[in-house]
Amino acid sequence: MNLDDDKRLAAEAAVAEVRDGMMVGLGTGSTAAHMIRALGRRVGEGLKMDAVATSHASADLARELGIRVHDFADVARVDLTIDGADEIDGLMLVVKGAGGAMLREKCVAAASDRMVVIADGAKRVERIGKAAVPVEVLPFAKAYVTRVLAERSDAVLRMAGGEAYLTDQGNLVLDCAFHDLSDPHEVAAWLQGIPGVLGHGLFLSEVDGAYLADGGVVTRLER
Ligand code: 5RP
Repeated sequence: MNLDDDKRLAAEAAVAEVRDGMMVGLGTGSTAAHMIRALGRRVGEGLKMDAVATSHASADLARELGIRVHDFADVARVDLTIDGADEIDGLMLVVKGAGGAMLREKCVAAASDRMVVIADGAKRVERIGKAAVPVEVLPFAKAYVTRVLAERSDAVLRMAGGEAYLTDQGNLVLDCAFHDLSDPHEVAAWLQGIPGVLGHGLFLSEVDGAYLADGGVVTRLER
């Protein structure tokens, strides 16, 4: 069993929650891609479902596999969202956004009756905070927001191919290694109060359950 097998097993376990008639939120990343492929197989076998996607990449993959994907702008409520994570602790506090989709992921999670995280065991931590927290920033406010974030973190502008990485919304990402993340709720509230910060990867109340696979064994957590 390698890490990718564990991602696939966690994804397949979560997909078993999907029922006919559901509107499903599709997460982003390599584990979410396994989930989308598993859903595509079930749709091929007759499952009737609809989806919204948290990124262009996930929407494209889902459509290729025959999944009906709607524009989230037209969808007010989602039954179940299945998404990956970069870190998850026992209280289901989660860091997301290594794939840069955290703002859309947060919107879709908020609209969802239930959100489950799927991850390989390496993402399970005692306490979130080792991974940098991605912060989505309006390009107009880059210098100001960088200055403010630097008061409490080592903030690094995410790059891709020698240029600033841009999210699906055309915004920048600053990956912030916080000097102190012992109170993530306080940090999240502080981030939300900075003009020019559009979103961040701290998911502190959104996640209802998780499927974590380690060495081929899937563990289910519920809030
Ligand atoms: C994207 C995310 C991903 O879900 C997270 O980075 C996990 O990715 P992977 O499954 O590839 O490890 O938050 O914004």
